[in-house]
Amino acid sequence: MPAQKLTPEMNSLLARIREMAAAAPTLDELERDIVEALAERIPYYDWTGFYMLDPDEPETLVLGCFVGELTSHVRIPVSEGICGAAVVAGETIVVDDVHTDPRYLSCSLRTKSEIVVPIRARGKIVGEIDIDSHSPAAFTQMDREFLENAARIVGGYMEEQAGRAV
Ligand code: SME
Repeated sequence: MPAQKLTPEMNSLLARIREMAAAAPTLDELERDIVEALAERIPYYDWTGFYMLDPDEPETLVLGCFVGELTSHVRIPVSEGICGAAVVAGETIVVDDVHTDPRYLSCSLRTKSEIVVPIRARGKIVGEIDIDSHSPAAFTQMDREFLENAARIVGGYMEEQAGRAV
């Protein structure tokens, strides 16, 4: 699909996320800053969170920072859920109606649609951004591009952190 123009709000959020990545002392703090900003500024992002692959068990996603209802899905094998499917497919998954998708693991009864965007560092998937909406078909090509840009910033941050650790 051709590149879409992002909304002014999305462009300003990306600029903020870049500033956050330049300043965050830890990945956890960067995740926290990002989920708070997304949840506050984009009204249809009703559950916003990170899942990261467990370095000791790379077939399992582990819940990171999130804003929204508590979820029982704290660890998700990559063989399960829309979250797992995005890791296996190696690409963003958008589900317009979660109730028609047999892969869907329910977090809130109010969720209608979901987007899961992989995060890559050094070419490998290391985690993902997961967003649920209470509105059906809430996520457009613009959301996909916006969140893929945000995921690239987080992946770049992780690469730099790994570089500093050696
Ligand atoms: N719905 C996700 C599980 C995570 S919760 O939405 C927070 C899935 O199907 O993988």
